[in-house]
Amino acid sequence: MLFSRFIPLTTKKKLVAGQFSSRAPSNIALIKYWGKYGIQLPKNASLSFSLSQCSTQTTLAYTPHQHSTIDFEVFFEKRSAPEFKPKIETFFKRVLPYAPYLKDYHFTIHTTNTFPHSSGIASSASGMAALSLCVLQMEKALYPEMTTDYFYKKASFLARLGSGSAARSISGPVMIWGKHPRIKGSCEELAIANPFQMHPFFENYQDTILIVDKGQKKVSSTLGHDLMNNHPFAQRRFEQAAVNILELIHFLTTGDAEGFIELVESEALTLHAMMMTSRPYYLLMKPQTLQIIEAIWDYRQTTGQSLCFTLDAGANVHLLYPKSERKKTMAFIKDHLSTYCQHGAYICDQVGKGAVLL
Ligand code: DP6
Repeated sequence: MLFSRFIPLTTKKKLVAGQFSSRAPSNIALIKYWGKYGIQLPKNASLSFSLSQCSTQTTLAYTPHQHSTIDFEVFFEKRSAPEFKPKIETFFKRVLPYAPYLKDYHFTIHTTNTFPHSSGIASSASGMAALSLCVLQMEKALYPEMTTDYFYKKASFLARLGSGSAARSISGPVMIWGKHPRIKGSCEELAIANPFQMHPFFENYQDTILIVDKGQKKVSSTLGHDLMNNHPFAQRRFEQAAVNILELIHFLTTGDAEGFIELVESEALTLHAMMMTSRPYYLLMKPQTLQIIEAIWDYRQTTGQSLCFTLDAGANVHLLYPKSERKKTMAFIKDHLSTYCQHGAYICDQVGKGAVLL
């Protein structure tokens, strides 16, 4: 079904050659999106922290052409990257009804990540969000009367069509995507900024990503989402996520560190439990992932610190902790946790404000 509010009126206006750039952050889900239907619609509402340092910067250069087809080339870190084409092609095809002007131009896309490509950090969320923001800047040039609110909502809407979690990489610090009857303004088609006031305890919350495995995942997220269809526990999981998101918002609002830790870790392990109980079943955690988790639990018990973890669909571990605990946590990471990382690698980040137009 087409979302009519994002279909622009036809225009005869044509832009001369030019380019637009944007930078969009990666995000880490605390309440996980796992399971989708239709065209990129989530089976449950999810909630994420936008990151500050891990991001994708994209430039979309355009020149008018006469063929009336989608036509583009992609460069990643200045090198031609045809391997990125199929995903971007799918994105363009899906967004075309909402951005029909795209077929009037030839595009050259230049993209770079601030994090190493082979770090196991997915770039599809930040990449699709950055590209969508470039498309929206073009649309704004064609339709200058566009409001800022429409601009960012449509950017999230288009990003979602490229990759579900990309919908949440537009703004920050906390984003919610998916419809929830108790969260005003929430919807399936695009992500919104958390409408509730976050407690100062979570301001500048730290996320240090321990790189356990740099390799390509054996099972893609897209396949993982598919396996939630006919999954024996799927329905119960979606119901649980709906309860968990409200509980997490309560903890974020009241500054309840204990509640936050328990819920965030439970969500991470539930995500992986879904993978382990899919048919076919699979594992993305590595032995080091489990060693890190055990070490975090020991550390918390002996020090009383608020360090906790979450996982995305991979072996890497995101360490979450308040800025006030940074010094102590960094010492623990350097002396102990980094020994479980591939080549000792980790990336220091923190909660960020969202994408920027360049
Ligand atoms: C585990 O957004 O990568 O990171 O919509 O197929 O592109 P597609 O999937 P994707 O799935 C992300 C899954 C997750 C949880 C999350 O980010 O909410």
